[in-house]
Amino acid sequence: MASEQAGAAQVLVASNRGPVTYSLGADGTLDAKRGGGGLVSGLSAIGDEADALWVCSALGDGDREAVRRGVGEPGVRMLDIDAAVHADAYNGIANSVLWFVHHMLYQTPLEPAFGPEFRAQWAAYETYNRAFAEALAHEAAPGAAVLVQDYHLALVPGMLRELRADLRIGHFSHTPWAPVDYFRLLPDDIAEQLLRGMLGADRLGFLTGRWADAFTACCVAVLGGTSGTRIGVHGLGADADFLRERSRRPDVEERLAALREQIGPDRKIIVRVDRTELSKNIVRGLGAYRQLLAERPEWRERVVHVAFAYPSRQDLAVYCDYTAEVARVAEAINSAYGTAGWTPVVLHVKDDFARSLAAYRLADVALVNPIRDGMNLVAKEVPVVSDEGCALVLSREAGAHEELAEDALTINPYDVSATAAALHEALVMPPEERAERTKRLAAAATALPPAQWFLDQLQALTT
Ligand code: G6P
Repeated sequence: MASEQAGAAQVLVASNRGPVTYSLGADGTLDAKRGGGGLVSGLSAIGDEADALWVCSALGDGDREAVRRGVGEPGVRMLDIDAAVHADAYNGIANSVLWFVHHMLYQTPLEPAFGPEFRAQWAAYETYNRAFAEALAHEAAPGAAVLVQDYHLALVPGMLRELRADLRIGHFSHTPWAPVDYFRLLPDDIAEQLLRGMLGADRLGFLTGRWADAFTACCVAVLGGTSGTRIGVHGLGADADFLRERSRRPDVEERLAALREQIGPDRKIIVRVDRTELSKNIVRGLGAYRQLLAERPEWRERVVHVAFAYPSRQDLAVYCDYTAEVARVAEAINSAYGTAGWTPVVLHVKDDFARSLAAYRLADVALVNPIRDGMNLVAKEVPVVSDEGCALVLSREAGAHEELAEDALTINPYDVSATAAALHEALVMPPEERAERTKRLAAAATALPPAQWFLDQLQALTT
């Protein structure tokens, strides 16, 4: 495409989920809701730039209606991609194949099986990626910088490069990257297409050196090399200023009081906050807590596990089953050990950021035990917000572990017994030690705040 057809945006971000979603009320009104999560907080740095544009996908009926009515926020362009195409690309390929590969979630002997359904979904994934590439090519000013996000859009860099050779294209992966042998579960032509699509970028970013190395190893094994594409590591940190201010607001204080009331006095609190996500390993975490109560009866009545597990990806049956399993296991613990005045597990499933912050403030122990995780921002947010210091039980398979290992209690996430032992160790940690460790964890967790994380990538791409 010639540059006279170029648009006006100097900096563009592309991601499946944008910074805002709309819900459609029964009376036809549209309600805007700002999204959360690391991606959103990281990219919010772009908000200050007048000539910046965030290209994202319409995700539900509300978003589609907003696009149809021309409702939107300045600096955000939502793409109304055909709903069936989006469903196959997002649920089918992105979340049931690529997410599973990078988090190593498949369960043999039934999965994976790449047959005709997969091929049809793959065609939708290509269409969906092409819609982004075309929109970006249309909106970008000559020589603009485009930062493409995540596994949903792995083909965009290559497609965009073909449309607009003048652009500087970056891609950032917010997930882990699969080891070579696991990545090669994918059909050979698909593995090649994915890697070539990403290598269409000038520069690729990953959350840790481990994921960057895994990507390079896949390129060497499948393609023979990375064909000169630059690769960088940017370990997204927590946003200290935002968190400290937000966690002291009245709505958080209110929830803090309600949680205290629900938990009862003189009890230790083990907190976890996750999307109800297979890779977050919530069921094994509950199993470890159950083992703690079984083997160390001295903790009964003296500890409460506050588990916030917010429903996610409920279009996928396996996520619905997992959500039900989490509730079932929590109930089983409560009926096995609960008493008239003590509920061992307090499970909340309604997403409430203010309540999550209240739990962060109260926690004596935070349990972050994913079987694999690109970074995990909960592990980084808790130490920043904690009132009195919080011991962190942290999976060695979380990206955050690379930065937090020294002051966390490290676990192998599959080892339920070791997790139970680490919970005990965390509960008996002397308060001074806990406070000291929390201070150091907070410093490490905030080393690269979201705005800086974003600007570093932009600078690396344009210099
Ligand atoms: C991970 C991904 C993000 C994604 C988020 C929530 O953090 O890296 O790209 O937005 O999960 O998942 P969802 O499917 O709800 O967007």
